[in-house]
Amino acid sequence: MLVLRSLEEPRRFARACRARGERVGLVPTMGYLHEGHLSLIREAKRRARRVVVTLFVNPTQFGAGEDLDRYPRDLERDRALCEAEGADALFTPEARDMYPPSHATRVNVSGTLTSGLCGAKRPGHFAGVATVVTKLFNLCEPDVAVFGQKDAQQAAVIKRVTADLDLPVEIVVAPIVRERDGLAMSSRNVYLSPEERAQAPVLKRSLDAAAALYRGGERRSRVIVEAARSHIGSAPLAKVDYMEMVDAGSLAPVDVLEGPALLAVAVYFGKTRLIDNTLLPDDGVM
Ligand code: PAJ
Repeated sequence: MLVLRSLEEPRRFARACRARGERVGLVPTMGYLHEGHLSLIREAKRRARRVVVTLFVNPTQFGAGEDLDRYPRDLERDRALCEAEGADALFTPEARDMYPPSHATRVNVSGTLTSGLCGAKRPGHFAGVATVVTKLFNLCEPDVAVFGQKDAQQAAVIKRVTADLDLPVEIVVAPIVRERDGLAMSSRNVYLSPEERAQAPVLKRSLDAAAALYRGGERRSRVIVEAARSHIGSAPLAKVDYMEMVDAGSLAPVDVLEGPALLAVAVYFGKTRLIDNTLLPDDGVM
């Protein structure tokens, strides 16, 4: 597996692959890889002969007071995991190359895709994500890029950017990978104390309770959201940041579920913020 550091290398790699008739898949990550990330690499491998994983802890998507400085890092372990999954290249650019002092452009998605959920709680976050993903697409020139349903709003934003800016890349969304007790895998789970970790499966259980109500015929958002919220209340260390029902396409709030909806939750355990979501009906990915 190649390890690429300079901004010129991934494009050269992709063009050489395509000259041989090989499709290139991309899996953008911030590293500290877990089984969720590895599932994306496997999905990319199914869709492209060559797979590039990017590892870049993107400063522009972290707000003031967020965890940029303490974000977990282990490049050597990540490199070994990518290699074991059969990735062909790992691209780990430097922040000073990605964002030289003259860098002044942000890719900003407006409207309901970014006004609610994490967009309301983390101002500027999705502009940072959209900017870095656009740059990674330009630098790596993939045919296909794989993202996780775990970050459902992020996936919706990236699909919008790709369509609006006519970027020639197919976006694939892959299912949420969970621990045995239901906790969605996340690089941030390592921040949890043993007590917090023990209570963290409450996110998934609250979504399951909501899905059961939905299956029973309930279509009023308020009723479903309240049931899910009160479930979180059973975990004394959990503090709800938001629990919101939105249209699965526009991410606009919905009162009565008529089409596919997304129930998304963010919960604080101490300083650690965990997110999770389910589609209603819960039949896969966005
Ligand atoms: P990161 O949090 O490292 O996640 C990288 C990719 O892995 C994202 O597409 C995310 O949705 C997916 N992922 C994370 N946990 C997952 C899980 N449990 N199951 C399935 N997929 C999972 O998301 C980012 O990095 C950044 O915002 C990035 C897109 C790289 C831009 O900086």
